[in-house]
Amino acid sequence: MKNIVILISGRGSNMQAIADARIAGARIAAVISNKADAEGLAWARARGITTASLNHKDFDGRDAFDAALAELIDTFAPDLVILAGFMRILTPGFVGHYENRLMNIHPSLLPAFTGLHTHERAIAEGVKFAGCTVHFVTAELDHGPIVAQAVVPVHDADDAAALAARILVEEHRLYPQAVADFVAGRLTIAGQRVLRRD
Ligand code: GAR
Repeated sequence: MKNIVILISGRGSNMQAIADARIAGARIAAVISNKADAEGLAWARARGITTASLNHKDFDGRDAFDAALAELIDTFAPDLVILAGFMRILTPGFVGHYENRLMNIHPSLLPAFTGLHTHERAIAEGVKFAGCTVHFVTAELDHGPIVAQAVVPVHDADDAAALAARILVEEHRLYPQAVADFVAGRLTIAGQRVLRRD
């Protein structure tokens, strides 16, 4: 059984999709948030999943917060740590500690539109397709070997909310599949590429 720890900052709909997928061979050991009032924590708690929170504002800088966060995460002996709307930039030390076992989902077709406000920027740039990316996390923000991507059309009438909603549907399909592939040992990292065998 592989232990999964999920980090969230808010709603946690991707966390819910992963939990609801009931991935064979995986157990959600804990859901952790940097915000004690994150909506997703209440959802997880109601389903009997262990939850914890650690407020970044209680720490003197990123290094101290990330060290405490890693210490907390490691009490759950994770095989995989999942960022699911965890809105914190992580230090190289933290990322290195979880090398090849730290995944993120980002609501754009990386390497396009890293960072924040991805949907607004995609519309402003006039792209005709947008989407989401699951990737292993490296020290560079929103970079790292790409596990999977899903593409959606951008319609003329779209505003950021409409595009985000269309992409979110794909996120909820893509992320559980990527986690299942990891858990089943189907993924191999080869440089910047992730190879998947059936
Ligand atoms: C998701 O759309 C996720 O892709 C995005 O935040 C949202 C979280 O929603 N993540 C990022 O922008 C990370 N750079 P959720 O809390 O409902 O899963």
